[in-house]
Amino acid sequence: MLIFEHQRISANGRLEIGGCDTAALAAEFGTPLYVMDETAIRNRMRAWHSAFNALYPTGIAYASKAFLTTAMVRIVEQEGLNLDVASGGELYTAVKAGFPADRLVFHGNNKSDDELEMGLRHNVGRLVIDNFHELERLNAFAGARGMKQGVLIRCTPGIDPHTHRLIRTGQEDTKFGFSIKSGDAAEAARRIEASPSLELTGIHCHLGSNLMDATSHLDAVDVMVAFLARLQRDINRTLSELDLGGGLGVRYLPDQRPVSVETFAGSVVPNLIETLDKHGAGRPRLGLEPGRSIVAEAGTTLYTIGAVKEVAIPSAPGKRIYVNIDGGMSDNPRPQLYEARYSAILANRANESPDTQVTIAGKHCETDILISNTDLPMPHPGDILAVQTTGAYNHSMASNYNRLARPAVVLVREGTADLIVRRETLEDIVARDIIPDRLRA
Ligand code: LLP
Repeated sequence: MLIFEHQRISANGRLEIGGCDTAALAAEFGTPLYVMDETAIRNRMRAWHSAFNALYPTGIAYASKAFLTTAMVRIVEQEGLNLDVASGGELYTAVKAGFPADRLVFHGNNKSDDELEMGLRHNVGRLVIDNFHELERLNAFAGARGMKQGVLIRCTPGIDPHTHRLIRTGQEDTKFGFSIKSGDAAEAARRIEASPSLELTGIHCHLGSNLMDATSHLDAVDVMVAFLARLQRDINRTLSELDLGGGLGVRYLPDQRPVSVETFAGSVVPNLIETLDKHGAGRPRLGLEPGRSIVAEAGTTLYTIGAVKEVAIPSAPGKRIYVNIDGGMSDNPRPQLYEARYSAILANRANESPDTQVTIAGKHCETDILISNTDLPMPHPGDILAVQTTGAYNHSMASNYNRLARPAVVLVREGTADLIVRRETLEDIVARDIIPDRLRA
């Protein structure tokens, strides 16, 4: 069983998050329900900021793709972090919630003209250029506005991190960024230097996601610092930023042990300083973009259990107990996409012995198994299932498959629960549909 530091089991056997009884949350707000623990989120943000800044000047940008709502933007703002946005929609959410544009980092491998114009209009602090097509258009658009836009080069460091193949991004064969090895990244720097409306401030890379230690980041320090040093000689000036992206992993299962943020900082920073000195590369400000590491463990999804079905199977133990929940791949597509594994608790009977092996199944018209073969107290219809570590890339990747309404999100803190995203209604589901006149007859 996976119970996080910010959670506890009450005397009456209920899982509590942020001082709120999860069974009571399910009754008040309905299920499926995403529960986000505000204190856990803030503590992680502070841990990232202080672990790094105690050792080296570092700007931490929260990667908003992991979980973004207007309330979340307020938390990021209050905690003094920067914000990584990667689309017009993420940028719009940030601006709408009053986030200072100079603290925005604007990413994307195929930003549209509208998105580039939007970034310029709002004066985003840093824009990360991914390709030559973007470089030319951005220079033209910024020129037309009489602006000089600060940019970073998204580099491909050629590092293959050990994580699921679909969440690797730093290897040579990728759609992201300019390859260092091929010379494209250096060519991008030359063109930016020659672009009157662009100002090169630094270089960026992102390796992959859910990495359990600093190994790949240490490799990235080697490659990126060597490139930075060459680049600085080439353009005959120093650059102020070296951004190493996000990627630190979290606990989805009780036996998983990602390194702590403090250990991660303690590995990366001394290596960075040594490598900068070795190459005489100066002291660029370090940039990092953690997403999952900040929100994943702070999030739990609550479901109501419906039909419990025992099925005979040919292999041992001869039967499987399918426990059907009222959500599934529409609120958590990660098991289908990445074979992601999760840990669950019976939220209303959390002190009973987990003596029954069950398989948790979603309600979609597919085999959307959320968790295979996990141990719970024998579940009954009406019990509340809490699936842990769903704070990152669950709400943000949710869909309306089978026309299910997407869940609400509540933010819990010291016994108070605030709705920060209301549940979709069936009316919402049809709200954008249009019947052309010729089909009305
Ligand atoms: N910076 C950049 C440029 C990124 O592309 C990403 C993630 C991050 C930062 C944040 O990475 P994190 O710290 O969260 O690992 N949907 C997938 C994850 C895709 C990550 C994409 N980029 C999943 O559910 O596992």
